[in-house]
This record gives sequence, structure tokens and C-alpha cells, in this order.
Amino acid sequence: MNDTKDSNWNNRTKLVHGGTRRSQWGEVSEAIFLTQGFVYDSAEQAEARFIETGPDEFIYARYGNPTVAMFEERIAALEGAEDAFATASGMAAVNGALTSLLKAGDHVVSARALFGSCLYILENILTRFGVEVTFVDGTDLEQWRAAVRPDTKAVFFESMSNPTLEVIDVAAVAEIAHAVGATVVVDNVFSTPVFSDAIAQGADVVVYSATKHIDGQGRVLGGVILGTRDFIRGTVEPYMKHTGGSLSPFNAWTLLKGLETISLRVNAQAETALQIATALQGHPKLARTIYPGLADHAQNALVQRQLGGKGGTVLSLDLKGGKEAAFAFLNALTIPVISNNLGDAKSIATHPATTTHQRLPDDQKVALGITPGLVRFSVGLEDPEDLIADLTQALDACGG
Ligand SMILES: Cc1ncc(COP(=O)(O)O)c(C=O)c1O
Repeated sequence: MNDTKDSNWNNRTKLVHGGTRRSQWGEVSEAIFLTQGFVYDSAEQAEARFIETGPDEFIYARYGNPTVAMFEERIAALEGAEDAFATASGMAAVNGALTSLLKAGDHVVSARALFGSCLYILENILTRFGVEVTFVDGTDLEQWRAAVRPDTKAVFFESMSNPTLEVIDVAAVAEIAHAVGATVVVDNVFSTPVFSDAIAQGADVVVYSATKHIDGQGRVLGGVILGTRDFIRGTVEPYMKHTGGSLSPFNAWTLLKGLETISLRVNAQAETALQIATALQGHPKLARTIYPGLADHAQNALVQRQLGGKGGTVLSLDLKGGKEAAFAFLNALTIPVISNNLGDAKSIATHPATTTHQRLPDDQKVALGITPGLVRFSVGLEDPEDLIADLTQALDACGG
């Protein structure tokens, strides 16, 4: 039974109750249907279900599962999307959204500031199958206008880029893309499902790594593709169910529980991020403190319009002393962990140039602002004063 009673609920109510299906036992916490398959009452019923699978009917967990369906409905309700397909990871979502949509001969325009694996899909995989990709500076609308063509099938960008936190104007790029009939695919991880309203602003397809804020406690991998029912069921589902990138029911359950608390967590993390960025601005060891919520961020006006003024949960610090200072800073931190996830309850510090973006050639790193001194800092749920004290002592301790 699907217990979602009211689609007019506000977001925090949707995050707790959206998509709930209760079994005959009436459990309060959502059940984990840890099963790969489903039993049919008869051979006739099996045949009928393979011809057409109705709502609340399941065949095989690669195609769908009740716990996974609850997660899909809850996140779709939050995003204001008609439908969603849950995936095994964020990269399965990016790959599934693009590969299911594109064919040989299509043209794609993409922002060039991308997470390393997103860039790999656009630069190395799609091109192998005859898709042409043009990269632009995503913050420059003139470049988008110049790059789109009548054969442009899709545009792709991270609405807030990893790790330099450029913010891209979803509504303006969507208008340019829609003028040539292109589908707008947005990787919305850094903007978060809480602050962003990308579908209302013109995105056709939104993808998330659920590994980040949706889990928010560093436990599982997951992802999700959101869009119209036609796109999700007609284009994405056949691709995903036959290629195998579906979400496990256990991970879906973990992510459902993550959605219950995401709004509280992400709002607290963004408040702390602003406090840290404000406190560290102008520190003598820093060439730049990058945080979209700061008034001096190049796209702060857009952050006000597009994200309700919320700058997200990540900030990046560019240390004057380069790699040596960045490593000394990381090694001097006592509360944040050195790792490479983000959106976690634990603060996480990352050196993109030698880890997440290591694969990029040096000239591309320079073009994207991924300097040897850049440290990405994902703000956790610790006390803001403790974090500011720890970051400050680590900056004071490092050279440069
Ligand atoms: C912007 C962005 N997209 C996609 C991904 C991939 O997510 P996952 O690790 O869940 O595959 C990441 C991971 O860091 C990311 O930062």
C-alpha cells in the first residue's frame, strides 16, 4: 500500500512520509525488502506481469523493488519530478541519464568544470560511440549560446562545480538549450536536493550521487535520475534494467532514512560553512576562500536567486604555499578526516589535485582553478567553534 496521502505537503513532511508503503504488518519504519525476486500466484500471473508490470507489482530487483520504489517516490516528491530511477551510485546515474538519451551522431554541450568521472564519461566514453562533445565555461552564457546547434541533443553541467564551486545559471542555460530542442541534464550534487529547485528552474533531468548528502553519514553508495515519467520509464528504465546499474534494497533503505533528516543536516552544515568561510576570509596563509554563500563569490547574486541564498555545504581554501602547505594543513587537522566523500556528518578535507582530480593534465587543472594549494572542505555536523579553531590552528601551523 502506498501511504503518500498528500502531494501538497511541504518538503520536510515529504521527506519523512513521501512514498511510504506499509506491509500488512503496519511497520512504522520502512521495511527492507531484501529480495532479488517475487513469487507469482500462477503462471498466468507471471506472464501478465511480464507483459505489463502495474504499480506496486514487481518482477526482479534489477527492474524494481518495493524499498527502492519508496526511495524513488520520496526523492521525486521532494524534487517536484514526475518520476525517478534509483541507481547503484552517482556515476551510474550520470552514465544512465546520458547514455540512455544519446546516440551516435548527437552533439552535447557540457560545462568543462566537472568531477573527474563525469569528465571521463563525456570525454572518453560518449565520444567512443560517436557523440560529439563541446566544452564551455559554464558560467559564461555567451559560450553556451555559441556552442549549441540544431543537432545538440543534450547539455550537461554540475549546477555547482566540484571542487571550485562555480555556480551555473540553470534557468538561463535551460532557455538556451530549449531553443534548439536540447535536453538539460543537471548534476545537482553540490547544490543539494534541499536548496535547489532545478526542475522548476528549467532542468529536464536531474541526477544526484545519493552517496553524498542523501545518505549523509558515509555508509552506502547510491544515485538517482529524476525527470518526466516518459523519460524515466521510457528511456532510462529500459537502459538501466538491462545494463544492471540498479540500487540495492538495503542501500535504498539507508537512503530513505537519510532523506528523513537531510533538511536539518544540510541547513546546519550550510550555516557552519558560512561561519567558517567568514572566519577564515583574509587569513594570511590563504590566497582565496571560495564559498558561494560569501558576498564576494563571483556568482553570489545567482546563489540568492537560484539557491535561496544558501551557499551549500562545501568550501574550498586555496593555500598560498602550494602543495606543501596544503599537505601540512591537512596533516595538522585534528577533527576533520582526510578522505574524498562530501556531505557527510563528519567534516572531510580533500586535496583535489592529487586525488579526485589527479587524472587531469596540468593545463586543465590550471584552467579549472585546481591549484596545488587547493583544499576542498566538506563541512560536517560538528560544533562550528571547534571546526573554526581546528582549521585556524592547522593554517597557522602550515608553511607558506
Ligand atoms: C558532482 C559529482 N557527481 C557525481 C559523483 C559520483 O558519485 P558516486 O561516487 O556516488 O558515484 C560525485 C562524487 O564525488 C560528484 O562529486
